[in-house]
Amino acid sequence: MYNITLIPGDGIGPEVTDSARKIIDATGVNIKWDVVNAGASVYEKRGVLVPDEVYSSIEKNKIVLKGPITTPIGCGFRSINVMLRKKYDLFANIRPVKKINGLVTPFNDIDLVIFRENTEGLYSGVENQRDNDTAEAIKIITRKASMRIAREAFIYAKNNNKCKVAVVHKANIMKLTDGLFLDCVREVSIDFPEIELQEVIVDNMCMQLVMNPSKYEVIVTTNLYGDILSDLCAGLIGGLGLVPGANIGNDIAIFEAVHGSAPDIAGKNLANSIAVILSGAMMLNYIGEKEKSNLIINAVHKTISEGKYLTKDLGGTASTTDMTDAIIENLR
Ligand code: NAI
Repeated sequence: MYNITLIPGDGIGPEVTDSARKIIDATGVNIKWDVVNAGASVYEKRGVLVPDEVYSSIEKNKIVLKGPITTPIGCGFRSINVMLRKKYDLFANIRPVKKINGLVTPFNDIDLVIFRENTEGLYSGVENQRDNDTAEAIKIITRKASMRIAREAFIYAKNNNKCKVAVVHKANIMKLTDGLFLDCVREVSIDFPEIELQEVIVDNMCMQLVMNPSKYEVIVTTNLYGDILSDLCAGLIGGLGLVPGANIGNDIAIFEAVHGSAPDIAGKNLANSIAVILSGAMMLNYIGEKEKSNLIINAVHKTISEGKYLTKDLGGTASTTDMTDAIIENLR
């Protein structure tokens, strides 16, 4: 039996994690879910954003399936997501973006994985108000963090028979920070002579991705660029409701969708839960339940290609629960 922490989160989080949990349980995998919550909804009730039981559950179980957590824009508390990634040194944010048959999208051959450095860059949280009219954010890039995310990306490429890794940077302008990141990726690439290193400046990458995404197989990049490119790539395959993610460290792993708490559709049974379901499949693969993971991926693909139970964001009229039931049916 596996002990796994489940954090439902805010907004659509409880709906989409409930859907994912039902589907994971329906595969027959023996999981004891430890449900603890954090975020804006918890703050409203208890006056604390991350209760102690959340940390102790994560530290005990090591594996987490998490819904999105709301972060206020501008003033207010800092992101709990960023805090958890830094606290547990979850250095690799891995986001696979793959075209799903049955959805009408501009490209038919997108199959890439983004490796986003997850602990530093412009997300280091070092911001200062110099005076009333001047604010600054400090971008921190270290050799240690850059080398390990680069290595993760190349190891993934090698293990999955990918021929190319693209490093996305802006080293022409940010010569020291992005320059260091680029140098580290180049250094790691020397150990993988069979894999081509593509060096792409981030603005060019945005254009390349919307014109010819099949040129890319694995993308490795810094924190902010990785975040932006993930949403861009999600748009290419049908939207944020489809892209899963993993935050991997040496000891702890948190699996969550790329999307946020979607307050505009929260509580309406409208959300597409596939991104969290596929995050759950990544989690099962990570803990060694590859067969069950594939079962879920196949059931999701089958449900989408049948086209009968699609949520509104995918052009259908099904509710979250309708789609969940259809996926469970397709597991069988
Ligand atoms: P968002 O991803 O929540 O929503 C953007 C748009 O995509 C909205 O129109 C939403 O309805 C739609 N959408 C997102 N997920 C969907 C799904 N599963 N099914 C159908 N439609 C979906 O991004 P937004 O509005 O910028 O952020 C909302 C909140 O979420 C913010 O407080 C933000 O900080 C937080 N957030 C949290 C993340 C996390 O916990 N990992 C990640 C991204 C944002």
